[in-house]
Amino acid sequence: MSTLRPYLLALLILCSVLLPGAQTLAGPVNCDDLSAVPIDFSVDFETEVQPIFTGGCANCHVESTFPLGGLRLDAGKSWFELVNQPSSQFANILRVQPGSAAQSLLFRKINCADPALPPTYPNLGDRMPQSREPLTLENQARIYDWIQQGALATPAVPDLISKAEFETRG
Ligand code: HEC
Repeated sequence: MSTLRPYLLALLILCSVLLPGAQTLAGPVNCDDLSAVPIDFSVDFETEVQPIFTGGCANCHVESTFPLGGLRLDAGKSWFELVNQPSSQFANILRVQPGSAAQSLLFRKINCADPALPPTYPNLGDRMPQSREPLTLENQARIYDWIQQGALATPAVPDLISKAEFETRG
């Protein structure tokens, strides 16, 4: 046993050096895999996305002197507060960057246990909804598809959307 210890110690040190590096190369590993959820090629913001916010987010992200995170997600306000709007907390990150869910703060914060956008932002605060169960994979996927399709206020005609652009997720 005593002869094994130095080897174990060496192995531990090696792992602690190598693993974080491997994680960075492979991208975040603490995010839900949405690839099994069928793609919705024409997400309607009003009927498919807003109900997710109204049901699980709007009681915190609501009109008040200080809506949490400086963000309102109640109906009629959420689209304007999200799309192309900068985060109130993290410089140079958009809450929703149309066409790029992976770069959007909103998607990171609903999809990942430890939301991050390395290398600049290894920590983007809490997963949303804060202190509650994560959104279902289906609801995460609806938000992903909506952002990939351009985060439109009203859905585009499916035929006009280039399906190749979002044939795979994640
Ligand atoms: C229990 C209260 C609570 C609930 C419910 C909640 N949030 Fe939050 N949210 C917060 C707080 C507090 C912050 C600021 C701290 C942080 O970002 O971790 C925040 C921050 C955010 C931000 C970042 C805003 C910015 O500009 O930096 C987003 C995006 C967000 N929440 C989305 C959501 C979504 C989507 C839901 C529903 C699925 C949700 N939140 C539910 C409390 C809540």
